[in-house]
Amino acid sequence: MFFKKKLKERPLPKHIAIIMDGNGRWAKKQGLPRSAGHVAGAKTFKNIARYCNKIGLSYLTVYAFSTENWKRPQQEVEGIMNLLRDYLRDAENFKDENIRVRFLGNREPLADDIKELMLKNENESKNATGLNLNIAINYGGRDEITTAVREIVKSGVAVEDITEELISQNLYTKDMPDPDFIIRPSGEYRLSNYLIWQSAYAEYWFSDVLWPDFSSKHLEKAIEDFNKRNRRFGGV
Ligand code: IPE
Ligand code: IPE
Ligand code: MG
Repeated sequence: MFFKKKLKERPLPKHIAIIMDGNGRWAKKQGLPRSAGHVAGAKTFKNIARYCNKIGLSYLTVYAFSTENWKRPQQEVEGIMNLLRDYLRDAENFKDENIRVRFLGNREPLADDIKELMLKNENESKNATGLNLNIAINYGGRDEITTAVREIVKSGVAVEDITEELISQNLYTKDMPDPDFIIRPSGEYRLSNYLIWQSAYAEYWFSDVLWPDFSSKHLEKAIEDFNKRNRRFGGV
């Protein structure tokens, strides 16, 4: 009841995308290793996903690991992959939450057991009717578009049949609405190769708060601000 009333007061974006940034700086501030920041960030992710499901959001897409993040020390990359493993194994426990999970990105270089767990999670949640949760892993917008172009060329489609719609349908987000709201905490003001095609008309929201400290209060404030934006899409 409480949420229904609130929803009426502030319509939700259709698709929120979050760049979960600032784990390393959060850890440093506490005198902890970067890995502790990723552990804390993973907790925040679970809380925010659950919250989005509770308020009735349709789509949430989170940036968990970029195509550029392989440049980090091997130990850090392994730590992040192990957190992903934990999440994928744990997801069993969230079945009753009715969240449909999908993974965006190039899975090829990921470990076999992770790939299997990803498929298992996708299959087992495919009939869920609550939040559509997309987790971007080894995701890069340029990589996604390059892969799409390759697929299109391979299909032998006629040049005049190449449309924006066709390109969209060859991206990881095919059949999903474009993100209308992109949130980046941690005080950085860039997309870092995130959803660069899909975010052509998104609204952006930045905050200095570091991802592990991001809470439902920040999300509520962001949504409130979103509702004050005047979206014109090139019109008047
Ligand atoms: C985001 O936090 C997590 C990933 C990119 C995997 P960072 O690890 O980038 O944290 P900062 O930006 O160094 O503080
Ligand atoms: C973007 O954060 C990627 C993720 C949050 C997964 P980065 O920390 O990698 O981005 P830059 O390096 O600050 O642009
Ligand atoms: Mg960062």
